[in-house]
Amino acid sequence: MAELLRMEGISKRFGSFYANQDVSLQVEEGEVHTLLGENGAGKSTLMNILIGLYQPTEGKVYMRGQEVEISSPGVAVAHGIGMVHQHFMLIDDMTGLENIILGDKRHKSARLQLAEDRKTVEEIQERYGLEIDLDEKVSDMSIGMQQRVEIMKVLFRGADLLILDEPTAVLTDLEVQGLFDIMRSLTAEGKSIIFISHKMREVMAISDRVTVLRRGRSIQTLRVADTTEQELADLMIGQKFQENTYQKVSAPGAPELTLKDVSWHPEVKHGGLKDVSLTLHKGEVLGVAGIDGNGQSALAQLVTGLISPDSGEVEGPDGSKIAVFSPQSFIDAGLGNIPEDRNKMGLVGGMSVAENLVLKQTASDRFSSGHGAWLKMGAINDFAEQMREQNDIRCTSVNQTASSLSGGNQQKVILARELESHPKLLLAVYPTRGLDIGATEFIHNQIIAQRDAGCAVLLISADFDEVLKLSDRITVLFEGQIMGTYTGANPPIKEISLAMAGK
Ligand SMILES: Nc1ncnc2c1ncn2[C@@H]1O[C@H](COP(=O)(O)OP(=O)(O)OP(=O)(O)O)[C@@H](O)[C@H]1O
Ligand SMILES: [Mg+2]
Repeated sequence: MAELLRMEGISKRFGSFYANQDVSLQVEEGEVHTLLGENGAGKSTLMNILIGLYQPTEGKVYMRGQEVEISSPGVAVAHGIGMVHQHFMLIDDMTGLENIILGDKRHKSARLQLAEDRKTVEEIQERYGLEIDLDEKVSDMSIGMQQRVEIMKVLFRGADLLILDEPTAVLTDLEVQGLFDIMRSLTAEGKSIIFISHKMREVMAISDRVTVLRRGRSIQTLRVADTTEQELADLMIGQKFQENTYQKVSAPGAPELTLKDVSWHPEVKHGGLKDVSLTLHKGEVLGVAGIDGNGQSALAQLVTGLISPDSGEVEGPDGSKIAVFSPQSFIDAGLGNIPEDRNKMGLVGGMSVAENLVLKQTASDRFSSGHGAWLKMGAINDFAEQMREQNDIRCTSVNQTASSLSGGNQQKVILARELESHPKLLLAVYPTRGLDIGATEFIHNQIIAQRDAGCAVLLISADFDEVLKLSDRITVLFEGQIMGTYTGANPPIKEISLAMAGK
């Protein structure tokens, strides 16, 4: 096979820190080439260099054997390189077609252009099996379809090399299969794909070759057919990776939270809750399994006091009815919260790591005098350093802004803060989305440690493997209703899968 891309000796320095150091990557025509590496290993940085968003400090890039200087995103497009970012960059109010052709001006007559572009888009759709409703508004589309619009956008601009940065993190299992079908039909036509994912099973299923990055350096490139999940994991973290298994709790403590026939906008199939009853005990992990968009968000918002039920009762530890639903009252009652969207709810990106770590305690005597009026910076820094050490938060300094940390390390900051307060009830919503295997393992260990210390843990996750691994009991949510609750020790996997599909 012919070589499409070669990156040689690429380095990228931010201040004194090398996000990429002497990285080499070679991609052939018609292959799926995976970049594998821990959070912060430098994958996105390398890709941002390739699409002209960053200029490398050192190194060379070749396309089809010719040296190229990708000085801007426009130059990348001209060389046939396109990227689907993890956060989609679509305009919600516009249709699929409008988004695809946006910014691409070849004709003088807008109407002529639209008709012709539509034809081109439909041809591409046909060729690669990309199902998109071209006339639907993006805001009405599923996440999976929005992603297909992004892929189409890149193909429409003539890309031969597609970069997919963690495309599966936001998809359901079924949508992942659909994406893989599209990826296979693209490579069958000679297109090349650089794929990024933290899920080893996906990497093994879809890749031809894998390049492992560790702490900014490229370690090795392997054919997937010649390697194993274990070998890749070991290379990635630089030591032997060992996945834990956990004992299941069969006799948990007293109830910490009870929901009785709780409904919230039950008429909304994919967002409401209908007659939900469940009991969460001290010292257990109750896992809520289900395909995304079946009431998980409403359940999470209810348990954090953001919404109050339309009907039904919510009871606290001693059977007392919870009357006031507000985030503060739930925090006061001892709730720890690992929210779904860490950017929106978990962290203040512009504040430092240290400030984020003490966010809930700024009014305490330990970190301020006059109830938050004067911050004790020394105490805050000492505490932050201690948290950084204990939680393996990788940053150059605790005074760095939270938004400059890699995804996994941002999540560790939230976890450190939420667990430090020794919550009675811990809500963990998709706690390891986007995290590498080491960080995932770390967070799993922390959740189980809280359980063993008597905390009641409500785990909401669309990652079925994660639910199976951590849960002492598993309850299935489908269209806002509980389909059944199952034991976590030797769970009936088939039955649970069917329940997740509403059967
Ligand atoms: N603009 C920037 N300024 C300073 N440091 C940065 C910048 N962009 C990235 N970094 C640092 O470079 C390192 C690599 O980041 P990058 O986003 O490439 O990691 P990644 O491999 O994509 O991780 P993840 O799997 O979490 O997405 C991180 O330590 C990050 O904090
Ligand atoms: Mg990244």
